[in-house]
Order: sequence, then C-alpha cells, then structure tokens
Amino acid sequence: MKILITGAAGFIGSHTAEFFANQGHEVYGVDNFSSYYDVNLKKMNAEDIQKAGVHLIKADFTESLFGKLPAEFDYVFHFAAQPGISATTSLEEYVQNNIFATQNLLDCVKESSPNLKLFVNIATSSIYGKEATLAETEVPKPVSFYGTTKLAAEQLVLGEQRSGKLNACSLRLYSVYGPRERPEKLYTKLIKSIYGQTTFPLFKGSEKHSRSFTYVGDIVEAMVAVLGKEEKINGEIINIGSDIEYTTQQGIELVEKIIGQKANIETTPPRPGDQLRTTALIDKARNLLNYEPKTSFESGLKKQVEWYREKLLV
Ligand SMILES: NC(=O)c1ccc[n+]([C@@H]2O[C@H](COP(=O)([O-])OP(=O)(O)OC[C@H]3O[C@@H](n4cnc5c(N)ncnc54)[C@H](O)[C@@H]3O)[C@@H](O)[C@H]2O)c1
Repeated sequence: MKILITGAAGFIGSHTAEFFANQGHEVYGVDNFSSYYDVNLKKMNAEDIQKAGVHLIKADFTESLFGKLPAEFDYVFHFAAQPGISATTSLEEYVQNNIFATQNLLDCVKESSPNLKLFVNIATSSIYGKEATLAETEVPKPVSFYGTTKLAAEQLVLGEQRSGKLNACSLRLYSVYGPRERPEKLYTKLIKSIYGQTTFPLFKGSEKHSRSFTYVGDIVEAMVAVLGKEEKINGEIINIGSDIEYTTQQGIELVEKIIGQKANIETTPPRPGDQLRTTALIDKARNLLNYEPKTSFESGLKKQVEWYREKLLV
C-alpha cells in the first residue's frame, strides 16, 4: 500500500511510519519540523524512519502544498498538529496547524489521490473536555484551545466524508507514552529530571488525575488494524486507548521504582484546561477493529526508560 503519514518526525507519527515501512508498505512521511520542542529530537526520529525506508518530505501544511507531495495514496494518517495544552502556545498556532493545515491537506489529497481508500484523522480525548470517560456519541465539551481546534479539524475531515468527497474516519487517542514521547510530556520530563537530578515540576492537584495511559505500540496496532477496514469504519469516530486507569501519582511511583530513585517534585500552579479524568471506552474499537491494547503500564514505562537511557542520557 502507498501510505502518507503526516507529522512523521514526531512522537506517534514516527512509530507508525516506521512500522508500516518495516511491513513493506511504500511510506511517505511529511513534517515541517516545527520548533514546538527540540528539533534535534525530531531529526533523530527522522533518521530512524528513513533507515526503515520511509521517504521523508519537509513541508508545512499551512502553506501551499502544490507540487510538494506525491499522488495516488491508498491511505493517509494525519498526525501533524500543534499538540499539547500549553499556556505559551498562541491560539493562532493551534488554529493554523490544526484547522487550516488540515483543510489544506484535505484539499491536496482530494485532488491528487482520487482513489484514496481512507483518510484517517488523528484526534484526541481532549475533545471530550474535563472528563474524557465517554462513548463516541457524547457531545464534545473541550476546555482548551488544543481540544477545540482538534475538534474543528475532526469535523473538517468528517464534513468532507459526509459530503461524499472522500472516505474518512477519526481516531481519538488517549494519553500516549513510550519511547520518543515529547519532551514536555509527563514521563520523558520525569525520567529526565530523575537522571539529571533536577526538580520535577508537577501541576498542583495533577497527582490525583487519572489517565488511560496508552503505550505507543498499542496505538500503532490500532493504525495497522485500520488497513482494509475502510468500508466498516468510513465516517466513524473511534476511541483508541487503554481502558485501565492509573493516577499520575501511580505513574510517577512506577518510574521511580523502575529507575530505583525518587523524583524531586516541586508543585507548580494548576494547568488551565487540564483534564481531571480520562478513561478510554473502547467497545467500538473492539467491535470494529478487533482492537485490544496489550502492553502493561509497567512494561511500557520500562521501555521508555530504556529508550531514554540509550538515546538521550549523556
Ligand atoms: N501524544 C499524545 O498523548 C496524544 C494524545 C492524543 C492525541 N494525540 C495526537 O497525535 C498526533 C501526534 O502527536 P504527537 O504527540 O506525536 O506530537 P508531535 O508534536 O511529536 O508530532 C506532531 C508532528 O507534526 C509536525 N507538524 C506540526 N505542524 C505541522 C504543519 N503545519 N505541517 C507539517 N508538520 C507539522 C511537528 O513538527 C511534529 O513533528 C497529534 O495529532 C495529536 O493531537 C497525541
């Protein structure tokens, strides 16, 4: 299959691109190497996926894509986005990279890949709002620029599907962790602070937040499960994540146990727009995709610690 992965130098996109390329698919990865976090980390991911045979293209979806992307894709997996709930990221950055970029990509793909089997939009549990414990049929109530613009992107994609212009679905992912996790996210930041013997800033009250922490390999499994299911899942929104909840405190303690050292935690003011509880309700994913997350929290975190030690510990 000829597959386009957007955001291929990022955390989840790089794992997906690498996996599909290792399976023998013809994979094109696109990324603008945005400076939201250390670009050297994206360059490391890019090297890995190119070694696996991914054709990497540097392009920005907020700009004209004319002549920049190959044509006739079978599948598109749209990971590229302005992620994260960050007080220092402007509304404009979320709007540009999540809304305009998505429509720009859609316009390009509709024209250049008329026989596309499926456009897979990558969405987020942040679309649900403070409590993401609901089925896909619930009314979304996002509380952050991130959640709101990701909801708009999802609706742009599904709007094209409803108008009969392409086949599409949207997968809402839950708290993904594992090797290559973004540096500003919980576990990479925690592991770095323990090894670097620096303080670990923890948003006040967040230790009690519970999350469907989902290992990145179990996310990739869901992407693989999509291939060939376009008739079944066209037009659908599907939650993808682990249905076992852990609190942030439990996650911190597990990392401390794996490394054998306590974190030096410093409490910081709560983060506006943060979710209190996320639990992936995955009955629909089980039914439609035969999806079953397999990685235990502890073994997934061990892999992330190993990755950090191997690639980032200097
Ligand atoms: N990490 C999570 O826990 C999580 C949870 C739910 C959903 N998601 C979704 O998964 C996707 C990937 O997230 P991630 O954590 O891997 O983030 P990431 O930032 O590591 O990856 C996103 C990539 O997209 C690229 N990008 C951003 N804007 C672009 C543009 N305009 N043009 C081209 N490339 C652009 C970035 O350079 C980056 O490499 C996002 O859509 C995010 O909303 C992530």
